[in-house]
Amino acid sequence: MICKRLFSSDGGEVQSVIRVSMIAAVDSRMGLSAQGRIPWDVPGDRAFFRSRTYGQSVLMGRRTFESLAGRVLEGRWCAVLSHRALEGASRWPAGTLYSSPGLEAALEWCAARADIVYVSGGSEIYRLMMARADELWLSRIEGDFGCDLFFPEIPGCFALELSEPRDGFMLEYWKNMSEA
Ligand SMILES: NC(=O)c1ccc[n+]([C@@H]2O[C@H](COP(=O)([O-])OP(=O)(O)OC[C@H]3O[C@@H](n4cnc5c(N)ncnc54)[C@H](OP(=O)(O)O)[C@@H]3O)[C@@H](O)[C@H]2O)c1
Repeated sequence: MICKRLFSSDGGEVQSVIRVSMIAAVDSRMGLSAQGRIPWDVPGDRAFFRSRTYGQSVLMGRRTFESLAGRVLEGRWCAVLSHRALEGASRWPAGTLYSSPGLEAALEWCAARADIVYVSGGSEIYRLMMARADELWLSRIEGDFGCDLFFPEIPGCFALELSEPRDGFMLEYWKNMSEA
């Protein structure tokens, strides 16, 4: 059974339940990106991200949002952590994009709309959410791409439950066993 976390901004009554799922693609050194962009082109992994997250919510940091360069993640509820106004927000269908400087408010916004929040990067947000994640979907891309930003160390409470070859990458599923 997947452990679910409860969130409430006031620490009182809990209103929603949501599963926290991390999703990332890394190279052989656990690299995430180089000079602000993802340095590989693996269509199979992009398709995996889309199919996994479709109809659910995604949580990302402001720099990852900017790396989308105006691309809208259609069919997903997108919460962006930032202390400033987002550029390019008007392209998103009304009500599908939310920006907040507060993590709990962002998680509540997601929980009101979806069963799962997919933590979608970047490095800062993976670090922020690792201890609260129920599971991790990791796409391993073969090779060293000279990345300068890295995925955090996976804590010992995560167990590797699945590792299988996919189209252009190796897919791993890790489960947080700490509250199983
Ligand atoms: N390989 C992959 O799967 C993958 C996935 C996603 C992203 N990436 C890459 O990751 C890179 C970006 O990662 P990054 O670590 O530099 O940045 P990031 O995590 O995307 O965003 C960092 C920003 O998020 C906001 N933030 C962080 N913690 C916060 C908190 N506790 N409360 C409120 N706001 C908070 C801040 O925005 P403000 O400064 O606006 O306040 C901060 O500058 C990009 O190059 C992207 O291509 C790779």
